[in-house]
Amino acid sequence: MRWKEQIVDFKNYNLPDESGHFGDYGGSFVPETLVPALNELESAFRTAWVDEDFQSEFDHLLKNYSGRPTPLYFADKLSSMLGGAKIYLKREDLGHTGSHKINNTIGQALLAMRMGKKRIIAETGAGQHGLAVATVAAKFGLNAVVYMGREDTLRQSLNVRKMELLGAEVIPVDSGSKTLKDAINEAIRDWVTNVEDSFYMIGSVVGPHPYPLMVRNFQRIIGLEAKKQFEEIESAIPAALVACVGGGSNSIGLFHPFLSTDTEMYGVEGGGKNLELGNHSATLSEGSPGILHGSLSYILQDSNGQISPADSVAPGLDYPGSGPEHSYLKDCGRIQYSSVSDAEALAAFKHLSRTEGIIPAIESSHAIAKVMQIAADYKKSDGIIVCLSGRGDKDFSKEVSDGE
Ligand SMILES: Cc1ncc(COP(=O)(O)O)c(C=O)c1O
Repeated sequence: MRWKEQIVDFKNYNLPDESGHFGDYGGSFVPETLVPALNELESAFRTAWVDEDFQSEFDHLLKNYSGRPTPLYFADKLSSMLGGAKIYLKREDLGHTGSHKINNTIGQALLAMRMGKKRIIAETGAGQHGLAVATVAAKFGLNAVVYMGREDTLRQSLNVRKMELLGAEVIPVDSGSKTLKDAINEAIRDWVTNVEDSFYMIGSVVGPHPYPLMVRNFQRIIGLEAKKQFEEIESAIPAALVACVGGGSNSIGLFHPFLSTDTEMYGVEGGGKNLELGNHSATLSEGSPGILHGSLSYILQDSNGQISPADSVAPGLDYPGSGPEHSYLKDCGRIQYSSVSDAEALAAFKHLSRTEGIIPAIESSHAIAKVMQIAADYKKSDGIIVCLSGRGDKDFSKEVSDGE
């Protein structure tokens, strides 16, 4: 029987399996040259993950370098304006470098050093992952090369300047739509050529096994903290969780520790200008299964199976793929995936800034827009946690600040 017809027991949820599959999704679809490197990475990760020294160094850096735990903030004004559930913001924007991406790069940098790799390759869309890579590279004395679509270097120019200040080499990518997908293509090309001495630091729960497992485990700290903090404040579990989904790392980081509870979960994608193929990046809610960047998951593709361009005002969501674990959780019905449009996200960007004095990243503004739509469907005694995945300082390009 295929897993789709089974009732999944989330109390014993333990995916991916040994071969890196979440049900049918995930796996490893890569050129031969990368197979030994992925095997070596998986074995280094599995050894490190159960090693107390690795765990204590990771915890120490999350706490003292990155500033964890991040607060769980009760957004009282926003909550009373919406007239429904109590809204809590998990403040990943307050961590070092201004987004959740640092959790993963600290973990992967520790791993790269254990593996003796000194050259780091990375891709970035919003520049937040690139910034987090450049930061850990500076701290640990590693060389970072960051691929970034030309369009993203223009709309996130502040992050390009920061990465360069930190000593990283930023390579603008002019192929395709000049955004995240094209940056990943170039990063993979570099990795295939320089696999002996380079470590590919993927920024989300995408790519071939073991990346979706590894990045999720590094990001689970978001949900583990949020669960404990909410319990301390409300002596309960939240009624719902909301997070934006690009590749899917901040969302799975928040959601994963709650999978076995009754908490409802909403993954929010970039609805772009409208839901016509090519005008949005709503991969899970509008796409279909296919292979992209080394794994099987929901992607955006045309009727010939060609990858379709994505579009979103948020560069970190502007990607035609998604993590394989999300694909599985969508098919099981455990998480509800939907999208909000560019215009709705921009309105939420302004709304949160003006009601709470918090300027959210344009990616996170998608989650804020969603909670603004659903809060009133919940009881006043209910709590909803929204992952505020990053801060909006980077989002002052004309497009975002003018709300076009
Ligand atoms: C602030 C912020 N939030 C969310 C995302 C989306 O990535 P993910 O879905 O992996 O969390 C990005 C990606 O760059 C980001 O910078």
